[in-house]
Amino acid sequence: MGQEKIQVGLGERSYPITIGTGVMDQIGAALQTAKIAKRYGIISDDRVGALHGEQVQRSLEQAGVNSELIVFAHGEPSKHLQTIGTLASTLAERGFDRGDGLLALGGGVVGDITGFLASIYMRGIPFVQVPTSLLAQVDSSVGGKTGVDLPQGKNLIGTFYQPKAVFIDTDVLKTLPSEEFLSGMAEVIKYGASIDADFFTWLGANRAAILALEPAAIVPMIRRCCELKAWVVEQDEREGGLRRILNFGHTIGHAVEAASGYQLIHGLAVAIGMRAVAELAVRCGVADPQVVAQLVELLRQYQLPIDIPAGMDCAALRRYLQADKKTIGGRIFFVLPEAIGKVRITDQVDDAALDAVLAGN
Ligand code: GLY
Repeated sequence: MGQEKIQVGLGERSYPITIGTGVMDQIGAALQTAKIAKRYGIISDDRVGALHGEQVQRSLEQAGVNSELIVFAHGEPSKHLQTIGTLASTLAERGFDRGDGLLALGGGVVGDITGFLASIYMRGIPFVQVPTSLLAQVDSSVGGKTGVDLPQGKNLIGTFYQPKAVFIDTDVLKTLPSEEFLSGMAEVIKYGASIDADFFTWLGANRAAILALEPAAIVPMIRRCCELKAWVVEQDEREGGLRRILNFGHTIGHAVEAASGYQLIHGLAVAIGMRAVAELAVRCGVADPQVVAQLVELLRQYQLPIDIPAGMDCAALRRYLQADKKTIGGRIFFVLPEAIGKVRITDQVDDAALDAVLAGN
């Protein structure tokens, strides 16, 4: 199976994304050729570091590229400023300077932490992304969003800082827990539902091959997501307008995720959020009920949840919506589907319709 390469075109901050099987073993040679840094701090969490750290270090070593593996405890609770401080001290103790770089080896938390650290360590050093979860491969490793959480909310501190390269090895998905794979599939469906109707149809037609992780389906699927993400980011890197469409399903999804005490993992909350916002679009007269039906059918095919959990307090969801960092001046912006593959961004939604959707009526 071959590998595919696409480019994120951002002028002097442009970078390649390599997607395929066996990519991890070639990272060392690619970094040797690219001459991005003289030494790499491979930042990972304890789980992914144990699974893939040695393989990546070997690849770098065989290409004559020096590296050091630095791990922190896995999970969202690590995504705070103390982790950044600890990692920065470790880099300083080991003599990392401005000629060195970082390599993010892991899922979204690792990528966000590593990108943020790279953007501020010694006022900025280069970094590359090696995403190991489907969610990170199709979304968070591309586009340069970095950050950590505060007790007041997720991702409240961060930067826009683009990686120098992204290496996506689809083989690593074989060790990904199935719930995490499905969580990534929610983000995949997001692209089809919000931007690309043909891709949405393709996801339905290729379900069996995708769930079986067949490279002939998985590689083009990830490639299409990265192409769409690159297309959006190239036009609106800092989320002034168009990039907001990538938040389809996320506004209500984030509120559901928070109201669950983060027991519901991100993609599953986004699946619920996509269905909810489609219902909202119908109630606001923006979409035909057929849009909800099509979306629900595909979400079900991928065993994703579609209902706001029973007993989730509507008032609490409202509070989380207001507290979201995408709320501006008290105005909550929604990405409403008009049809599959076509969305509109608006803060003009009917309050009663929103309450009915949040209450699951
Ligand atoms: N995950 C949405 C974005 O990168 O803009």
